[in-house]
Amino acid sequence: MKVRESSIPGEAYWSTFFDPACTLDVLMADIVGCGNIVEFGCGYGTFTLPAARRTTGIIAALDIDPDMVDCVRRKAESGGLINVQAAICDFVTDGTGLPAASQSHVMIFNLLHLQHPVALLQEAHRVLQPGGTLSVIHWRSDIPTPRGPSLDIRPTLGQCEAWIKEASFEGVTAVDLQHCCPYHFGLIGRR
Ligand SMILES: C[S@@+](CC[C@H](N)C(=O)[O-])C[C@H]1O[C@@H](n2cnc3c(N)ncnc32)[C@H](O)[C@@H]1O
Repeated sequence: MKVRESSIPGEAYWSTFFDPACTLDVLMADIVGCGNIVEFGCGYGTFTLPAARRTTGIIAALDIDPDMVDCVRRKAESGGLINVQAAICDFVTDGTGLPAASQSHVMIFNLLHLQHPVALLQEAHRVLQPGGTLSVIHWRSDIPTPRGPSLDIRPTLGQCEAWIKEASFEGVTAVDLQHCCPYHFGLIGRR
C-alpha cells in the first residue's frame, strides 16, 4: 500500500531542497566502515547514490514505484555503482524481505507521515545489526515549507523521536540539518 501523500514532484524541483552529501555527512558522521545499507522509499535516488559511494557494502534501494526503481538502477549503472540493488517492494504490506540483523544502516527519508510509523520503524530495527544506525529526515512543521505532506499528517520532530524510541532504538538524537536541508529535521538512533 503506497504511503499517503508520498508522491514526489519532478526531480529537478525535488533536488533543490537538499544537499545530499552534506545531509549524509551529518547523519552518517559516526559510522565507521559502513556495511550494508537499506533505504526505505528511495525515490529518485537523491540519497541512494551518494550513500552508495560511502560504503563497501550493498545498498538496497526499495520503492513501490517501478519508475523510481528503474531511475535508480539507471543512475547506478551510469555511475558505475555496482553495490546498488534497487528493487520494487511494498514494505508497508510485505516488509523489506531482508534478513534480520543484515544491515549496518537504515535510511527513512520523507516517509514517516505514513499511517503506522512504529511498525515501519520496527522493521528497520529488525533488519539492523546490533550497533547499526537509523537515520530519519522529514519536512519541518514549525516553519512554512514549499513542499511536504499536509500539516495534519506531518509529524513533528518530537513525535518521530517518540516513535523511534517506541520501536526500541537507543541513543535517539536530533541532528542539525540547517546547512544541508533547512526545511527538514533529522534524527539518528542506534539498535
Ligand atoms: C516522498 S518520496 C521520498 C523519496 C526519498 N526517500 C527522498 O527523500 O528523496 C517517498 C517514496 O516512497 C515510495 N513509497 C511510498 N509507499 C511505499 C511503500 N508502501 N513501499 C515502498 N515504497 C513506497 C514512493 O514511491 C516514493 O518514491
